[in-house]
Amino acid sequence: MKKYKIAWLPGDGVGIEVLDATKIVLDKLELNAEYIHGDIGWEFWCKEGDALPQRTIDLLNNVDAAMFGAITSKPVKAAEAELIPALKGKGLIYRSPIVRMRQLFDLYICLRPTKAYPGNPLNFRDDIDIVMFRENTEDLYSGVEFNTVPKELSDVLTKLSKPFAKFKDLSGEDYAISCKINTKLGCERIIRAAFDFAVKHNRKKVTVVHKANVVRATDGLFFETYKEVAKDYPTIQTDDANIDAMTMWLLKNPMNYDVLVAPNLYGDIISDLCAQMVGGLGFGCSGNIGEKLAVFEPTHGSAPKYFGQNKVNPIATILAAKMMLDWLGEKEMAGRLENATAQVINEGKIRTYDMGGSNKTYELAQAIADKL
Ligand code: IPM
Ligand code: MG
Repeated sequence: MKKYKIAWLPGDGVGIEVLDATKIVLDKLELNAEYIHGDIGWEFWCKEGDALPQRTIDLLNNVDAAMFGAITSKPVKAAEAELIPALKGKGLIYRSPIVRMRQLFDLYICLRPTKAYPGNPLNFRDDIDIVMFRENTEDLYSGVEFNTVPKELSDVLTKLSKPFAKFKDLSGEDYAISCKINTKLGCERIIRAAFDFAVKHNRKKVTVVHKANVVRATDGLFFETYKEVAKDYPTIQTDDANIDAMTMWLLKNPMNYDVLVAPNLYGDIISDLCAQMVGGLGFGCSGNIGEKLAVFEPTHGSAPKYFGQNKVNPIATILAAKMMLDWLGEKEMAGRLENATAQVINEGKIRTYDMGGSNKTYELAQAIADKL
């Protein structure tokens, strides 16, 4: 049996607690793996000016998969960074290391399943089973942003089109630009991944989420590419919705949705909405998947106010580990882990605070391990 190399990236805050809990179930499953710790997060930004140090990038280049906890992703102003002794005078900008990791390793699929497990008191409805395919490297996350618009850029803009002439009278500090950049390749590969998944898992429908009526260039490209790709999958139903209407329909009729595909930011928003309908971020699991590497994580953040209390729900991370097992091809283990998790949810004897209980993070993980 193959011995897997798994990068273990707890990150900040409760990321450490949920990863510790997940280790309990992976150890019980006896997955033949070496877990290799990697430094990531706020601590390394403060100490080294780099939240994703090169040694962690090197590690990620040499593993089969990674489990990631959580990191601080707050916006940090240049003046705040100046107050951190190690960063003084360096003019560094904090960028969320998870976003960087997704782009650096071209983890273009953000796979986010949301399933209502029977017996979960937090379910909005019991018949929700939605799988989100979120594009994970482009769109408004491209990182091409200007909070002081350089003159070269404003000159080009004002020359390009009449309505842009108004920028001529503004100084670079008076406006900001965040570029939404989508490529044909970027659209096509995520849409194809969603359709391939639908075929493989006997799903009926792939709904594309967009705002092509207003954001005509980028969302138009996404929607047109969807229509082209869909022709290759005649057995799968097609469907589309504008992002605004989608939030409304999803809340009204979540059981009508099956597989969703969306550009990066809409996928980010909709996947939180989906997670809330099956129990909140304590149940939201996520896989960042590329051709060579995949990084699995809970969708929640580092929750500093809960850190040290061992009270947050580890199920999101345990379900992320289940996704990792699937991705590694360990289907039998993945199935056992999901069944054990579903049983513990359904029995309702061990519950963390979000589910109305008072059990600790590791107690819930141990209850799941006991079922394995
Ligand atoms: C997510 C998170 C991240 C994102 C943050 C932490 C940068 O919200 O994984 O959904 O926006 O992608
Ligand atoms: Mg999010």
